[in-house]
Amino acid sequence: MLFSLIPFIEAFAALAATTRTCYHITGEPARQSPGRPKFFPCDPGAEVSNCCSEIDLCMGNGLCLGFNAYNGYTFQACTHPDWPEACSHGFKWPNTIPSGFYALAWQCRYGYNSPYCIGENASCCEDEDGWVYLPRFSNIHLAGNSDYVIRASGGNGVIEGSDASDASDRIALGVGISIPIVAILVAIGQWWFPGARLWIWKKRKGPEKLKKDDDDESWPREDAKRLWFWKRRKRKDHEKRKRDDDEGRLLEEGGIALSSEGSSGLEMSAAGDIGERQFQYKDDEQSSSTKIG
Ligand SMILES: *[C@@H]1O[C@H](CO)[C@@H](O)[C@H](O)[C@H]1NC(C)=O
Repeated sequence: MLFSLIPFIEAFAALAATTRTCYHITGEPARQSPGRPKFFPCDPGAEVSNCCSEIDLCMGNGLCLGFNAYNGYTFQACTHPDWPEACSHGFKWPNTIPSGFYALAWQCRYGYNSPYCIGENASCCEDEDGWVYLPRFSNIHLAGNSDYVIRASGGNGVIEGSDASDASDRIALGVGISIPIVAILVAIGQWWFPGARLWIWKKRKGPEKLKKDDDDESWPREDAKRLWFWKRRKRKDHEKRKRDDDEGRLLEEGGIALSSEGSSGLEMSAAGDIGERQFQYKDDEQSSSTKIG
């Protein structure tokens, strides 16, 4: 039984890792107000990692790439409030990283390693003293879902799903739970109904054995009746479970599937966030075009 708890503990640890607090450059914890995008560590396995808003893209070099709305490079948040090297990447805090909500990063040259500067606009590139060379990034994923990572492989890009290992974890979890439960159920069944025999067992022994049981009356009528009740209850349980499953499936089909695979209940709130944000940007667009016009 103890061993069956281990996958549970691991699952909770994994959950804790993905819901770690992210801190803005000011050291304040990233706000997690309902209806707003949440911040996720880009590298959930790392001790210290940059965080990006769940609907933006995490680039392998620590930058966030604004998705859909602002298509710029930003440093958004860090799993450590002090922004150590692993998050600041050599930019000097607090001198070059403004203590705003996001730090805007600008690419000053293109190359194998490219210089970036931090500033309000691209004019920060004029001051070469402020340049920091970031390594080229070779993987990118949606901050809110690190299950699928687009990774450079040789000359190609490949989509890597951590799904395979997840699936085997899930299977292990299932087996870890189900084996002890089945064993306990069988044990309870044998205790409540000492005369009951598993169908496999009965089948193997064949009619000869059953006949012999009848003959020597070690299979009393009372036990057979109990077995009948037990079987009937099992059948009813099975039917009920099947009904519940069907209802569950209907609910799932009725709901909005945000991502086809690997979407958990936890991610459902994201649909609202994105919807609201798109709405908000639409509003912004309209108001800005009104201003221009
Ligand atoms: C760019 O940023 C600098 C300093 O951060 C500021 O002085 C300048 O006005 C900005 N330029 C534009 C076009 O916004």
